Amino acid sequence: MLGDFMYSNPTRLYFGKNALDGLSKELENYGKNIMLTYGGGSVKKSGLYDEIVKILKKGGKNIIELPGVMANPTTEKLYEGCRLAKENNIDLILAVGGGSVCDYSKAVSVSAYCSEDPWDKYFLRMEEPDNKIIPVGCVLTMVGTGSEMNGGSVITNHAQKLKIGHVFGDNVFPKFSILNPEYTFTVPHYQMVAGFYDIMCHILEQYLSGTDDNTSDYISEGLMKSLISSSRIAVKNPKDYEARSNIMWTATWALNTLIAKGKSTDWEVHMIGQAVGAYTNATHGMTLSAVSLAYYRHIMNYGLKRFARFAANVWGVNPEGKSDLQLAEEGLKALEAWMREIGVVMNLKELGVTEDMYEGIAKATFILEGGYKKLTHEEVIEILKESM
Ligand code: NZQ
Ligand code: ZN
Repeated sequence: MLGDFMYSNPTRLYFGKNALDGLSKELENYGKNIMLTYGGGSVKKSGLYDEIVKILKKGGKNIIELPGVMANPTTEKLYEGCRLAKENNIDLILAVGGGSVCDYSKAVSVSAYCSEDPWDKYFLRMEEPDNKIIPVGCVLTMVGTGSEMNGGSVITNHAQKLKIGHVFGDNVFPKFSILNPEYTFTVPHYQMVAGFYDIMCHILEQYLSGTDDNTSDYISEGLMKSLISSSRIAVKNPKDYEARSNIMWTATWALNTLIAKGKSTDWEVHMIGQAVGAYTNATHGMTLSAVSLAYYRHIMNYGLKRFARFAANVWGVNPEGKSDLQLAEEGLKALEAWMREIGVVMNLKELGVTEDMYEGIAKATFILEGGYKKLTHEEVIEILKESM
């Protein structure tokens, strides 16, 4: 483990069937004005909204509602939330929903008191907040992003055709998150498996990079094995508590900074996926699944040893008598078979990408340097073509 690092994680988690019991106690730490953010209605249908309103009222809180946070939250919605938060002197933003609602709430938390356009400051210029930050708490209803225990916030600007994530520091992490696996039972199949692939991709972005022997990579292998095993159960029986709880816990650890410690990380699949998202507004996990295999095949030769290890340690491919190249290829075949088994989108056509978008998507793709191969603009286009 060759890298230096500081590790801390400020988010308090409540996990399990009675996790919501933690909410009243947490609420005691904040003032009266609570902004309740949620999405397009799933929380009302499930009854969770009523339960939470009851707890807030019992705690004597004023509830300021901000419904309609869309999947892939937009700049317009962000500006709306900022106005509402400032007008109502909000003490806590309570996000009830998936990654989009959690990400959005973090964006409002740093933007409400920002003296300039928060899109320019945080997402284009990547500056850190130097103004008041409103605390955020989350009640998670869909797993995948890890937003419940990280500083990530991804916002889409449709006018500029950009989807950009800012990974904020500890001061923007949710103060607490409530994780009850039963809340995820009602997530539609398409969203559920997109979330599963998002988890796998988060782990791979951190695992398929670096060359030293690193504890973080052994943790990643364990997380991937748990995800593969539980996802196979959950696609057959979405109400299997054991499987859904394992997946929920895996998702949190896949992106709460732990497995990135002491090593370089890649994130290029996310950069391409986000650019695809900016052009198509497709479901996040599916933008990743559609481009992953073409990307991995493209970089495999530059990190052959790690790809070979992935095959042997994660998929159980027998290494006997095989070259690293053979092993690496078998590992990617096993990954592909699992992706087809759980039913994620395997090509960009299905997400609405057309040839005339290649240039724009490639231009909107940030090129990072932490992976095995720094891509060129032309290579991104090649990968897009191969992903059709
Ligand atoms: O809006 P409602 O009606 O609530 O429906 C949502 C939404 O349509 C539905 N849903 C959520 N929980 C449900 C449910 N439906 C029924 N029952 C439930 N219990 O699912 C749909 C998708 O929800 P969304 O929050 O958009 O999904 P996800 O959690 O995948 O979040 C995606 C967003 O997170 C960003 C993505 O880019 C995208 O914008 N990411 C955030 C990251 C982070 N914070 O670190 C990292 C990720 O890589 C990702 O980029
Ligand atoms: Zn992701």
